[in-house]
Amino acid sequence: MKNHSILHLFDPKDVETFVRQDGKYPFRRSHRASLKYRLDRPELYLDGGLFCENEPSWYRQRNQFHQRLLSIQQVAANIEKLDEVNHALIDQIDNCLEKNRNTIGNFQAIYMWALGSTLKLFLDLNVYKLEDELVRTLIQELHNSLTGTDGTEIKSNKWLKQPSKCPYYGMLEQSQEVLYRFVSEQVEQRKTESASNALYLSDWLFKDHLKQSDVISFIIDTLMAGLHTTSYTVANLLNHIANEKAIRDSLQKEIQEFLSVQESITKHHIDKLRSLRSCLKETMRLNPVLIGTGRLTTEKLVVRNYEITANIIVITQNQVISLNETLNFYEPNKFKPERWFHYRTCPHLTIWIWS
Ligand code: HEM
Repeated sequence: MKNHSILHLFDPKDVETFVRQDGKYPFRRSHRASLKYRLDRPELYLDGGLFCENEPSWYRQRNQFHQRLLSIQQVAANIEKLDEVNHALIDQIDNCLEKNRNTIGNFQAIYMWALGSTLKLFLDLNVYKLEDELVRTLIQELHNSLTGTDGTEIKSNKWLKQPSKCPYYGMLEQSQEVLYRFVSEQVEQRKTESASNALYLSDWLFKDHLKQSDVISFIIDTLMAGLHTTSYTVANLLNHIANEKAIRDSLQKEIQEFLSVQESITKHHIDKLRSLRSCLKETMRLNPVLIGTGRLTTEKLVVRNYEITANIIVITQNQVISLNETLNFYEPNKFKPERWFHYRTCPHLTIWIWS
């Protein structure tokens, strides 16, 4: 396998300079084994899908899905849908706590919530009405797919020449088969229902006329993308809130002011829950689930007067940047959501967290 030099960027100004030159097709060197897996099965997949592909194939996928996903109206319409899943997690919070400790330790309920959110959004399925065995299998196979993806990228090259001898590739193969079977059956079923509430799905299939195989691969990818990211973020958020009584009290006050117990949460409420939003941002600053963003350069570019040639892996070190005191992060290791009330004082903050 070709070795690449790695350039780490620790200064947000350099990250900005880099991102601005990233071009129409940002190139990620990741998910290469999944790409092989999908390209080996042309009867099921048109290509590797959004995560695996680069350049025009990535652009094709991105173009198909991003408009509806980024539409504020669609996001707003989906907030109420997720309320049911969120309430189920709230009811189970006690089961998530570690014995005799005030911290989140048991992840099963949180994984179920994360899986449930994606299933609700894209397949209009209520995870709490599925059989326990099926839910356990889906969560396990998603873990396996993620472990297989990381393993083939970071731990073993064997799959390149001898896929059958690479345990990580085997894991990926086996788990992707299960996920494909589940998602494709569900998509078929939703298609035949006259009044499906799976709005994204019906828009993609019946208004945008996307290929069913693309939609299936996209939903599999979002199930993978949404499991660990949102679970660990929510667990960290809950831990911070649990440990900070003053913040907990002020959140409770804010929520009582804007949201009555019987009401379903809507976009209108979220706009007003400013402290809650700041707690989430502060959690993502202190405990980002991804250390940064990676790219492989495809052409020469310049950062801080240094020329960076093609084929260099560039990693933006968001996690390090987010603990940097000189960027207005006073007391950077402390959970201080109120710092986000004044975020405009630091122009770089929005660039790396929300880009
Ligand atoms: C705390 C939660 C999450 C974090 C921190 C996060 C972070 C990221 C990051 C850093 C990337 C790479 C962006 C890049 O290479 O430029 C990414 C890509 C992506 N994520 Fe997430 N993610 C989260 C949750 C989710 C969820 C819940 C879904 C789907 C339901 C999702 C779907 C995707 C997709 C489809 C991409 C590929 C986008 C593209 O290539 O255009 N993510 N995410």
